[in-house]
Amino acid sequence: MPGWDQVDRLVRDAHRSYATDPEGTVADYIPVLAETDPDLFGLAVIEVDGGIHDAGDATHAFSIQSISKLFVYALVIQEVGHAPVREIVGVNNTGLPFNSLIALELNDGHPMNPMVNAGAIATTALMPGSTTAEQWERVREGLSAFAGRPLSLNGEVYRSEAATNDRNRAIGRLLRSYGRLSVDPDEIVDVYTRQCALDVTAHDLAVMGATLADGGVNPITGRRVVDAEVCRDALAVVAATGLYERSGEWLFEIGLPAKSGVSGGIVAVVPGKGAIGAFSPRLDAAGNSVRSQRAIGYLSRALGLNLF
Ligand code: DON
Repeated sequence: MPGWDQVDRLVRDAHRSYATDPEGTVADYIPVLAETDPDLFGLAVIEVDGGIHDAGDATHAFSIQSISKLFVYALVIQEVGHAPVREIVGVNNTGLPFNSLIALELNDGHPMNPMVNAGAIATTALMPGSTTAEQWERVREGLSAFAGRPLSLNGEVYRSEAATNDRNRAIGRLLRSYGRLSVDPDEIVDVYTRQCALDVTAHDLAVMGATLADGGVNPITGRRVVDAEVCRDALAVVAATGLYERSGEWLFEIGLPAKSGVSGGIVAVVPGKGAIGAFSPRLDAAGNSVRSQRAIGYLSRALGLNLF
């Protein structure tokens, strides 16, 4: 990356360039998310040498949603290993929306990849623990280690999603019917729902991503969270699948592994250099934050971050 001053200026420029961008709509399929202020917009860059650059609402808390999938996946590979997780969860795109049941039916109940809901539920099920409460605790602790601070559950988001997530419960049951879950489907979907309801900020997302960029060592706390090979696995999968059915377009235009979530967050990782965390609740039709995508694209171009 260029010098600290230059990165700092570009982060503020990127924020300013899209701060009034009106495109996109706030997700409403989780009722409480529909109440989010659509104009919140935070941007953060964390460098592997510890450089911090925040702009706008970078410390506003929001539920992490699908971005949790990337970090739980890394934690589970660390615990269970590359080969078994690859076999059980898969690494290829489904080409279908993130909450598709048809994708499962078409693939003999195999989830295909950990960044869709089916694969994320199957991944969370692999987290070690003798009870789902213990699995949840390990998920929360692991994601907190990535963020470098204790993350807490947003109870309102959790309850709102738990009361309406019939679709994810259907996915859990379908996985179980194909013999692809060895734990109680409703209980593990509950852990998955909790992991999605952990509160983070754009700044946290940048720290979490920078930990993957830094070969598994959190650049702020100095603590190793996962091994370097685990980061490579997680970043390869997320490069191929992180923005759902838009993953190809994203990699083609921006050239960085990234993961989005329906609350409006995106984390983009620049291996060896750092990460960008962004938050803006206005989403495009695939469920990806419009301002976050644009601001990350701006920084990727301005800082020459495209990996290809
Ligand atoms: O399971 C769900 O549907 C949500 N908890 C997370 C979905 C999500 O963030 C998809 N992102 N674009």
